[in-house]
Amino acid sequence: MPLIKLEEVSKLYGFGDATTLALDEVSISIDKGEFVAVMGPSGCGKSTLLNIMGLLDRPTHGTYKLQNRVVERLGHNRAAKLRRDTIGFIFQSYNMLPRQTVLDNVALPLVYKGVGPTKRLKLASSMLERVGMQNREYFYPTQLSGGQIQCAAIARALVNEPSIIIADEPTGNLDSAGSRLVMELLSEIHLMGNTIIFVTHNPDLTRYATRVVYMRDGRIIQDESTSLGEVAKTAKRHLYKVRAKSVEDDLAGVSLLMKTIPDKNEVEAPRKTKPRSRRSKKTGDRS
Ligand SMILES: Nc1ncnc2c1ncn2[C@@H]1O[C@H](COP(=O)(O)OP(=O)(O)OP(=O)(O)O)[C@@H](O)[C@H]1O
Ligand SMILES: [Mg+2]
Repeated sequence: MPLIKLEEVSKLYGFGDATTLALDEVSISIDKGEFVAVMGPSGCGKSTLLNIMGLLDRPTHGTYKLQNRVVERLGHNRAAKLRRDTIGFIFQSYNMLPRQTVLDNVALPLVYKGVGPTKRLKLASSMLERVGMQNREYFYPTQLSGGQIQCAAIARALVNEPSIIIADEPTGNLDSAGSRLVMELLSEIHLMGNTIIFVTHNPDLTRYATRVVYMRDGRIIQDESTSLGEVAKTAKRHLYKVRAKSVEDDLAGVSLLMKTIPDKNEVEAPRKTKPRSRRSKKTGDRS
């Protein structure tokens, strides 16, 4: 029995001419214990898919079974409760409450769960220790670096001991050391039996996953099993594609720039007739 089962799920945003088909009849099953990377170009529907899986959004059409329970039409409160008990979220930028300490921020989900103050601070503290933030407990979010805030946000997502972790570009704002810290932490959680679904634009990070789902235009175009520790084959190819595309983009950017520069003759004609001074030559060499 799959943990997550989406059948022909579509998501439409907007009305009339402004309608966007963010998901186009997506079907996917995810079993307990999988570590799934979702990849694809910007706007292809990755966040929409994760938001639906995480009960933050509802499909326009199709069915969603979470732990074999039909959830696509759950009321707001029931969805919120199920979400709280089952799913931990990590986003690229996670808004911590600025006037609360890191420890209080991490303990917050436990307040909603009715855990007493002593126990929740203890749990939050041990979670912060796990992400290497034990010496930042009494700092305020504004006193942390981006990477540290993300680590605290991860501790907060984990404090409820959710069985599913949904992470939308969790390393999007981190440098390579920060990304490794986060991914290794997620791997550890995965090894403890959790199911993890994360979005990444970085093909290298597929080495942490057991499965990679590739999306385009609201559809899943490929679904690949992959070995832990190895970059997924299609992701590797994707890496080259991305590189090739960015060169083209650069060239397109350059041509665009050239268009804004006066006509070639207009620039070069005076140079031919008027010798440049040493000073202007130097400046020209520098640029
Ligand atoms: N709330 C919304 N209202 C209207 N359109 C939306 C909304 N959310 C997403 N969309 C549209 O749905 C499509 C899919 O968006 P989504 O955020 O899922 O893409 P993504 O793959 O996560 O992109 P990125 O890599 O940039 O985060 C896009 O065309 C987007 O503009
Ligand atoms: Mg997104």
